[in-house]
Amino acid sequence: MPAIVVLGAQWGDEGKGKATDLLATTDPIDFVVRTSGGHNAGHTIVVNGEKYATHLLPSGILTPGATSVIANGVVVSPEALFRELDGLVARGVEVADLVVSANAHVIASYHSTIDKVTERFLGKNQIGTTGRGIGPAYADKVNRTGIRIADLFDEGILRAKVEAALDMKNHVLAKVYNRRAIEVDAVVEELLSYSERLRPMVRDTSLLLNQALDAGKTVLFEGAQATMLDVDHGTYPFVTSSNPVAGGVCVGAGVGPTRIDRVIGVIKAYTTRVGSGPFPTELFDEDGAALQRIGGEIGVSTGRTRRCGWYDAVVARYAARVNGLTEFFLTKLDVLDTWERIPVCVGYEIDGVRHDEMPMTQTEFHHATPVYEFFDGWQSDISGCRSFAELPKNAQNYVRALEELSGAPFWAVGVGPGREQTVVVAS
Ligand code: GDP
Ligand code: IMO
Ligand code: MG
Repeated sequence: MPAIVVLGAQWGDEGKGKATDLLATTDPIDFVVRTSGGHNAGHTIVVNGEKYATHLLPSGILTPGATSVIANGVVVSPEALFRELDGLVARGVEVADLVVSANAHVIASYHSTIDKVTERFLGKNQIGTTGRGIGPAYADKVNRTGIRIADLFDEGILRAKVEAALDMKNHVLAKVYNRRAIEVDAVVEELLSYSERLRPMVRDTSLLLNQALDAGKTVLFEGAQATMLDVDHGTYPFVTSSNPVAGGVCVGAGVGPTRIDRVIGVIKAYTTRVGSGPFPTELFDEDGAALQRIGGEIGVSTGRTRRCGWYDAVVARYAARVNGLTEFFLTKLDVLDTWERIPVCVGYEIDGVRHDEMPMTQTEFHHATPVYEFFDGWQSDISGCRSFAELPKNAQNYVRALEELSGAPFWAVGVGPGREQTVVVAS
């Protein structure tokens, strides 16, 4: 299978890291590619009981033999990049080759400063961003005042671009936010300090990936964030500033849509969300607290507690549609082991009207009340199951019911965080 996309079907943290790692270790994968977002991601991989977290780097960095690629659609903090690489090396990890696009945009320290001050300014309307400077870096990109990786190799160009980028920002920082202006020299110096180490990694990644596909190599596009956090298709404005949907992969990598063979949506057997924004199946009771506790739902990047709720099949169908999913990978089924009865949201009621599909407007989505169907639990430990047939009957029924409701076939089911704790669903 030459080109595979793995992406988040809910609000993030579905287990994309595990899915990528699983695919990269069961089939020979030549390239693992990040195409959007930055170090706002937090992907956990558990290998032989040892836990690793990646943020900006593709999870493929842990797979020797696969080249990791940070493509043009990613926003790159060189500081975060090297901190992450050095952290893995310090743990004795044999890191894979890493290639960075010359056209990827740079996150400098002023982007995270602006991210934090704007969030504070928003008060109760804040997005709950990760504070990593993602939104301000993408804003500069679209505003045509961004700095790209290639700019770090020409001091004259870099200085001119940093001056242009800071001109307006310094007025706003001083006059609106009452902050000290950012000095051009300090930013230029900071960015130049990374250029020598970066230079050998920098390539035309669109050319590299297209040539690889032409040669029949296998390329895995590892999603970050998720469908419901997409700036176009998510719960705007409570979203990230990029396009984590399947279409974003093509833009973010310079690879055409006709080249993609599989689009795998990773989805939890329940739902979580970090930060602000609407979440129809959110629970505020003991069930929510139990999902949070049993699922270990604490953010990998920011340490924030994740909001928890039941599986939302409307979100699943929406993700299947906007991404053209060929299949789902259902994760964390084991977290539901103890429940006697498991609710699943099959539709919404909005102002007295039943909706089976995502409503057209955000106002309607804010007013959505879930319509639940209930499934019998299995009340046994499934973490040791290694085939679909080994799952208790009620667990099989739950998976089949979700598959029926979700708009794409289920490829595999996670029954624990470990690479081997995966069950392939027979069709
Ligand atoms: P990502 O951002 O989509 O890569 O997901 P995160 O790593 O932020 O969060 C997913 C969490 O669930 C991690 O702690 C994983 O180790 C864990 N995980 C993934 N799949 C499973 C599973 O099937 N069962 C259990 N119990 N944990 C899982
Ligand atoms: P992974 O790849 C969960 C959320 C933030 C916030 C919103 C905007 O681990 O699934 P940003 O810093 O991107 O401007 O924040 O998006 N968010 C995530 N939530 N998982 C993620 O990544 C996220 N990346 C961003 O919490 O609500
Ligand atoms: Mg995560």
